[in-house]
Amino acid sequence: MDIRDLTADDLDAVLDNRKRAFGPLSGSDAETWRQVVLPVLPTGRYIGAFDGPRLVATARINAFTQWWHGRPMPMGGVAGVTVAPEDRGRGVGRALMQAVIERAADLGDAVSALYPATTPLYRGMGWEHVGGLTRVTLPTEALRALGAGAPGVKLRRMGPDDAPELIATIGRINAATRASGPVCYDERLWRLWLAEDDDFCYIADDGFVIYRWSGGDIEVDSCLAESETTARALWSLVGSASSIAKSVTAVVEPDDPVLWLVRERSKDEIRQTRWMFRVIDLPAAVARRGFPSGVSLDTPIRVEDPQRPANSGSWRLEVSSGEGAVTPITGTPTTGTPAAEAGPAFGIGGLSALFAGVSMATLRRTGLVSGGTAEDDEALDAAFRCTAYMLDYF
Ligand SMILES: CC(C)(COP(=O)(O)OP(=O)(O)OC[C@H]1O[C@@H](n2cnc3c(N)ncnc32)[C@H](O)[C@@H]1OP(=O)(O)O)[C@@H](O)C(=O)NCCC(=O)NCCS
Repeated sequence: MDIRDLTADDLDAVLDNRKRAFGPLSGSDAETWRQVVLPVLPTGRYIGAFDGPRLVATARINAFTQWWHGRPMPMGGVAGVTVAPEDRGRGVGRALMQAVIERAADLGDAVSALYPATTPLYRGMGWEHVGGLTRVTLPTEALRALGAGAPGVKLRRMGPDDAPELIATIGRINAATRASGPVCYDERLWRLWLAEDDDFCYIADDGFVIYRWSGGDIEVDSCLAESETTARALWSLVGSASSIAKSVTAVVEPDDPVLWLVRERSKDEIRQTRWMFRVIDLPAAVARRGFPSGVSLDTPIRVEDPQRPANSGSWRLEVSSGEGAVTPITGTPTTGTPAAEAGPAFGIGGLSALFAGVSMATLRRTGLVSGGTAEDDEALDAAFRCTAYMLDYF
């Protein structure tokens, strides 16, 4: 089997594989799909596995930005993973994901995330469950009522040319809120999404909302604001549909301010779609991540990464003044070192889960870490613990 970059000549076969994997696409959806993927082909971010001339499998590595404790870094968002039905169950998926890991490293994506349709394939290759995309359903009238607290906030309709301003706004908010997990598309993709006829897109000085009709109700893709007044203005704009739409289903942060702004709250009606995460290049990922400024840490850790041996070994992990670093521990005989002194030992899945904020208590009780001490656990939690989320599905 030969794994190589896909070209425009392969797109009919890719679409056929896609149909067999995810179901048919309407004519206009297939056209949008071509618009989205064509410019990706020369960037090395769409690979295919071939048996002779026949396309067997595909995977795309989207170029996203992802924030970790408020700091942006390039992230490879894996999507479009397909194996032809007649080739499934024979290790093609694994071989493809191995190629994805190597390619993401070559492209400089130190971290990667994906929404799994099935877990074992990705878990076996080092991705681990870390975060969710949360949808909450709220009564439209409760949102309309929020407008009373937001007089005079100016909202403007957005179109494709507002993409740069939108991207800058998202970056400012994610930095200010010390966000962990959310992603942002590049300008080209935002221009496409902001041209969608049936979406209503508004921007303010420090926030924006994107929503649409869904049946007789409203669906909110994102509603993000840095200040309370803008949050009130944006949510009440959505809520102004209350005479027609009785409920609003919105993608929100797990601790989204709207859940505190509404007057009544007792049972949250939420649904989560889970995503998985993998560290591709450990030193680069830690160097690019943000950390709480008050936390200091200096501890050895051990990492085992069968798919990317460059991540394997003993490392010194240091965090101080909001910055992190890992450096290889060399020249130390590891045999005979007591497990506690050698520090906690992670597989790459466990290490990825730690990086993305899963607690050491959870990692211990799922066998994703061994060795080290309770003090190590507390220090690692203080540095990495967060509730990772995304607001975008891909
Ligand atoms: C999911 C898919 C990519 C797997 O490809 P594949 O070549 O069959 O996978 P592999 O043979 O390399 O299997 C790798 C591991 O995944 C597991 N796996 C594969 N398909 C699975 C499924 N449908 N459900 C649960 N586990 C599955 C295998 O059992 C194996 O794990 P194991 O070694 O622990 O037994 C393929 O079935 C497919 O294209 N499905 C339709 C589209 C899809 O779901 N894509 C994924 C979107 S995120």
